[in-house]
Amino acid sequence: MRALAGEPVWPPPLWVMRQAGRYLPEYRALRAEVPDLLTLFTTPDLATEITLQPIRRFGFDAAILFSDILILPWALGHPLRFAEGPVLPKLSDPASLATLDLNRMRERVEPVIETVRRVRARLDAKTALIGFAGAPFTVACYMVEGGGSADFASARLMAHAKPALFSKLVSLLTQATIAFLTQQLEAGADAVMLFDSWAGVLPPSLFGAHVIESSRRITESLKARFPHARVIGFPRLAGLMFPAYAAKTSVDAAGMDTSVDPAVARRLVPEGVALQGNLDPQALVAGGMALESETRAILTAMRGHPFVFNLGHGIVPHTPVDHVCALVQMVRNA
Ligand code: CP3
Repeated sequence: MRALAGEPVWPPPLWVMRQAGRYLPEYRALRAEVPDLLTLFTTPDLATEITLQPIRRFGFDAAILFSDILILPWALGHPLRFAEGPVLPKLSDPASLATLDLNRMRERVEPVIETVRRVRARLDAKTALIGFAGAPFTVACYMVEGGGSADFASARLMAHAKPALFSKLVSLLTQATIAFLTQQLEAGADAVMLFDSWAGVLPPSLFGAHVIESSRRITESLKARFPHARVIGFPRLAGLMFPAYAAKTSVDAAGMDTSVDPAVARRLVPEGVALQGNLDPQALVAGGMALESETRAILTAMRGHPFVFNLGHGIVPHTPVDHVCALVQMVRNA
């Protein structure tokens, strides 16, 4: 929390995106008993246990709520199931937009909010709890596409060809995200993160409206209500738009994806905006010298700047647990 508030805490605090997940044997054991992911996300007992698993094992400085960015559209009434990845109906017209219902969302997310309460009650005071949501643009991508995609062509097509409809969708998701994150902060989350995993597929002409403006609205509205809450934004693959994102969204910290050079980012973000990231998840799979030199380079580049050590994207399932232990040791000894 001090690093997010702009203090160059050293050694830097550390957590890992997707830290609760399939690389952990204890997660796989639970998952084998309860194969339906939606059940895992919406059963407070199970979601609390999974959120705490990586804290027990590694002592990370933050826990991140075990949920998914697609829980929000699900709570708005857009059906969702998980096969290899998420599967949703494709949203393509105003009629399907009209079925999304903000009023019923509050009640449908209640199990997730109860998980926030239970996790906060079980964490010690030194461990922060990070709540999260997908950023409106990224969630819109999955809703328009009906699932994952390499480039989210149909979502981008809608942004160009039906700009009013796409803007309406992003705007509705912005409102819903404010409500959802407000509930998480009320329930005890210390910080919240906006995952804009697909921000980088947009041309700069649309990045301002769909990524920066929607994230700014969310951040400012949360901060007006919760002055001590911190917001982390993750505009993945934003490239040259990264500095504008850090400057204009009012986020406390900007998450660097693997492609960002931390030494360059540090020079380009406004004073006081913390940075988070950005070890290549594959360096963590590799371990050994590769892990050591990549980790050292990031630590060297970030020393003296408010910083939270993390990966540049989510940890991958075949990551050896020993390599995560080695990473924690290196960062603790920085
Ligand atoms: O970081 C954490 O540990 C918290 C939990 C979390 C999950 N998803 C759980 C999950 C978070 C923060 C997310 C965010 C998320 N979900 C994003 C944004 C971050 C990113 O990775 O870019 C996105 C795009 C999604 C959508 C999603 N959920 C996909 C594409 C998939 C399938 C691919 C995959 O990684 O398996 C999911 C499923 C999902 N969400 C899993 C987990 C742990 C896999 C669960 C399993 O198969 O057991």
